[in-house]
Parts: sequence; C-alpha cells; structure tokens
Amino acid sequence: MKLRIVVLPGDGVGPEVTEQAVRVLREVANIHGHNFHFEEHTAGGEAIKQTGSPPPRATLDACLNADAVLLGAIGSPEFDRVSPDKRPEAGLLLLRRELGGFANLRPVNSYRAIEGASPLRSEIVDGADILFVRELLGGLYFGEPRGITSQNGGSAAFNTMRYSASEIERVAHIAFAAAMERRRKLTSIDKANVLETSQLWRQTVSRVAVDYPKVTLDHLYVDAAAMHIITNPKRFDVILTENLFGDILSDEAAVISGSLGMLASGTIGGAVDLYEPVHGSAPDIAGKNLANPLGAIASAAMLLRHTARLEDEAADIEAAIRAVLDAGYRTADIAHGTGGHLISTTEMGQLVSEAVAEVADMRHAYHAV
Ligand code: IPM
Ligand code: MG
Repeated sequence: MKLRIVVLPGDGVGPEVTEQAVRVLREVANIHGHNFHFEEHTAGGEAIKQTGSPPPRATLDACLNADAVLLGAIGSPEFDRVSPDKRPEAGLLLLRRELGGFANLRPVNSYRAIEGASPLRSEIVDGADILFVRELLGGLYFGEPRGITSQNGGSAAFNTMRYSASEIERVAHIAFAAAMERRRKLTSIDKANVLETSQLWRQTVSRVAVDYPKVTLDHLYVDAAAMHIITNPKRFDVILTENLFGDILSDEAAVISGSLGMLASGTIGGAVDLYEPVHGSAPDIAGKNLANPLGAIASAAMLLRHTARLEDEAADIEAAIRAVLDAGYRTADIAHGTGGHLISTTEMGQLVSEAVAEVADMRHAYHAV
C-alpha cells in the first residue's frame, strides 16, 4: 500500500512525539512492504514566526494533497497575550476546517500496567473502554457572530453556539456506526435543559437512532456526564457530543488512562483525515526528551486503521504499546505509582518499534499453525 502522509510537527513537544510516531510507521512499512511517503511542513507558532501565518498556504495545500495528516501539537506561551484570531490555535481550527473532518474520534481506555498512574482507584478504571466522538467543526469554536465590542464604556465579548440538524446528523451517523462495531451502546451528551442547540442535538440524535435499532441510546446532561465519566467509566461505550463539551470531557477522561500523554485522536469525514495526539504542546518539557510519544504513536495506529484500512498493522502498534508498558517501561508522566523503568521519548519510540516487529512475527506464526 502506498500512502502520502504530511507531518506537521508544530510547537513544543510536537516535533519530538511525531518523530517517534513516524519511526514506528516506517517500521510497519518495512515489515509489510508498504510504501509510506512522509513530507514535513510548518504549522502553529513556528509557522507564524517563519511566515507570518499559522498554517501557510503551502502547508494547507500539501495537506489537501495528502492521504492523511499527522500533527504533533499546536500552541505556545509566546502568544498568550495575542487575540484568539492571531494565535496558533486559530491556525489549527483553520486547518481542521479546510480538511473538512467533522468527527473527532478519541478512544480512552485503561492500561492495566499503568493503572497506578491514574488518581482513580483501579477497580473503577480497570477495563474502561470509551470512544468519544466529538463534533469538530461546529458550535462555539466556529459560530458567527463573535467578537469583542465596547458597551457603555466597558468591554463586552460574545460567541455564538450554532448547530444545524445536518451537522448533527452527519456526526451522529459516525457515532452510531462506531457503536455497531463495539458494544452497541451510545450516550449522547448535551445541555438540553438549558440550550436550544442541545434541544436540536437531542431530537436529531434520537431521529438518527431509528436507523440503528441494535444500538441502545441514552442521553445525559453534560454536568452529570462529567461526574459519571470518572465515577463509573465502565457504563460508557461510545460517547457523542458537541465540540466544546467534547474538548472538556476528553481531557477529563484522560485520567482513566493515567495521563493525557496516552490519548490519540483521529478526525474523519472530510477530504483528508487528520491525526493528532490529544495532549498539547507542553512547553515546560519541550526539547528535553521527556514527553510521552504514545499518544502520537497511537494516533499513527488510528491513521492506519481509519484512513488506510490496515487493521492488522494498527492492531500490531496497539499491541506493541501494551507490550512495552507490560514490560515496565515508562515516560515520566506515567511513572508515578506504577513502578518500572523511567525512559525518554526516543527510547519509548525505539522500544515500540522493536515490539511492533515482534508482535507482527507472532501474528504470522499464529496464522501459520
Ligand atoms: C484539543 C485542543 C484544541 C481544541 C486547541 C489546541 C484549539 O484542546 O484538540 O482538544 O480545543 O480543540
Ligand atoms: Mg482539548
């Protein structure tokens, strides 16, 4: 299989973690005889400094011509005082909109070997396995009008939360289809007791549910959901929610995995799929070879599964991650409370690459008997 992948290392720890994800993808290509072509482009705060615009046109065009985009992280404290439309984050939103993916998949699961890294008791997290489907192109992030005005001599600011039924429908179909492949349970999260957008959300999701009679649907208000996610994560299979709620709840749910550094994401449904770890640029540890590359590596596995339909290869990467954790290797973020050997970003990437080769060998041996 031939794949053209645009890599956007971005800011902070982004370059370090994407380098390890690319290393693992190269190993997979080697083992299976695939032809993966990587092309690096500038994005984020780095791009603003080099070219004046967060994703320059050349980066956007390269992404639009690729089979998939793998992004590291976006955001830098240098821009903390700058207005939202001039920040690196605005560039990320522009990139998401240009690529067109509206369904952001964020799997969250517990890893037995590092359960001790979670502040939650292991009987709560053990076996938790949730797929968040976050709507990514609507709601407050993109709603117009938005802005800051002066009002009676003071300042006022406003944003617009807006959803059309068709925007809700298309992401709901992705969530129901995902639930069909899993445990067939879908929880839709909204604030329908207060917001009109949420009332439309709830009605629309309930209507789409008619097409999926085998999926059990329930609805939760976002405040209650925030509590249930960490008190009883095992009650969830697929969670469907709008953009801002999904942003907040997926960071909260990261405590189930033990660290935000573990979480991967993939955005599908548009012209070109976009893969990015959920963690941010972590400027405090950037350049120190300390960051956890597993979120980026797991995002690469999602790329193989969803864009390339290489399920065996994707599953091999995920099995390799588990094997390395089971063998006791930890980056700093998951070392606390879990025992094992503390290793660097590059060592983690190297170990996962080696484990991928072993896992693939074992699978072949298994199929041969
Ligand atoms: C995420 C991030 C982004 C978001 C930021 C960096 C704009 O928090 O992917 O969760 O809010 O979508
Ligand atoms: Mg976020």
